[in-house]
Amino acid sequence: MPDEIDDLRDQLEAETIESEEEAEAFRIKYLGRNRGAITNLFDQIGDLPPEERPEFGKRLNALKSQAEERLEEAKARLKREEQAEGPDIDLTLPGRRDFQGSTHPLTQTTEDILRILRGLGFSTYEGPEIETDWHNFTALNFPPDHPARDMQDTFFLKDAPTEAPPVLRTHTSPGQIRIMQEQPPPIRVAVPGRVYRNEAISYKSFCLFHQVELLYVDEGVTMAQLKQVLYGLARALFGDDVTLRFRPSYFPFTEPSAEVDVWWEDEEAEDDGQWMEILGCGMVHPNVFDAVDVDTEQYTGYAVGMGVERMAMLRHGINDIRTFYENDVRFLDQF
Ligand code: DAH
Repeated sequence: MPDEIDDLRDQLEAETIESEEEAEAFRIKYLGRNRGAITNLFDQIGDLPPEERPEFGKRLNALKSQAEERLEEAKARLKREEQAEGPDIDLTLPGRRDFQGSTHPLTQTTEDILRILRGLGFSTYEGPEIETDWHNFTALNFPPDHPARDMQDTFFLKDAPTEAPPVLRTHTSPGQIRIMQEQPPPIRVAVPGRVYRNEAISYKSFCLFHQVELLYVDEGVTMAQLKQVLYGLARALFGDDVTLRFRPSYFPFTEPSAEVDVWWEDEEAEDDGQWMEILGCGMVHPNVFDAVDVDTEQYTGYAVGMGVERMAMLRHGINDIRTFYENDVRFLDQF
C-alpha cells in the first residue's frame, strides 16, 4: 500500500493542466469526495495494521497538499494567461457605427416642405383620411356622375347605409373645404397627409401616397403670387438651378388650372432628362367658394396639391416609388 502513494505521486506529477476543464478533471480524479484517488486511500487507512497508520497518514496528507497546491498553481496560471490576452474584442476589425434609426424619407420631405411654407406664412391643418363623398368630390365641383370623378379611381367603404358611401380620400383637397367651413378668410394653410387611389401599381404609382395641399384665400390673391410661392418652394427644395414648367391643365375645383413639372436628369438613365410632374394648382373655382359660402365678389384664392413621393424621388434620385413602403433598412438607413 505505501507503494500506491508513490505511484500516485508519479502519476500526479506527470499531469498537465492547460484549461479550466482540465483543472476540474484533475480535482475530481484525485481529490473528488467520491472516488477521488487520494480520497480513496484515506478510506483505506483503517485496513492497515495500527503501527503503520501514523506514517501512512502523514505521507498521504503530504500528497493531498501537493495535489491541492498543484491545482491552485494551475488555476492562478490560467487566470494570468487569460488576463494577458485582453478582453474578447478584435481590435483589427473595421469600425461599424450603431444603427440609430431615422425619420422616413417621406416624413423628412413632408417636414421640409411644411417648414419652408411656414416661413411663407402657411400654418398646418390636418383632415381625416376617411372622407365624405361631399368633401372629397361634390363640394370641390365634381357633381355626382360628373366624368371628372373618373380622374381619381376611388376606394369606397362598402355596405355604408347612405347613398353616397364614405371614401378613402383620393387627395388632400377636401382639406380646403374643411378649413373654409371652420373659419372665414383670410386663410393661408398647408394640409399634409396620406391619400388613396385604386391604381395599377408601378414604379411611379402606388395605391397610397402622400400630398401637401396649399390654400390661400384673401382679397386680391393672384396667379402671379401662386407662381412666386411655387418658385420659392422649388428652389428651397431642389436648389437654385431648378427648372420648372407650368402647363395648362384641368381640375374641376380650379380655373384656370395648371400642372407643374420639374426637369429631372437621372444619371443612370440613357436619355438627357425628362419632365416630372410634381403638382397641380390653380385659382379656386367660384363653385367651390359657393359650396362653403365664401363671397366670390370679395375674395379670390389659389390652391395647390403636390405629390410628396415625387418630390422625395427627385431630391434623392430614387427611381421606384415602391421602395418607400417596403421598410427595407438597407434603403431607410441611407437617409
Ligand atoms: N387634388 C389634385 C389631385 O390629387 C391635385 C390638385 C390640383 C390640387 C390642383 C389642387 C389644385 O389644390 O389646385 O390630382
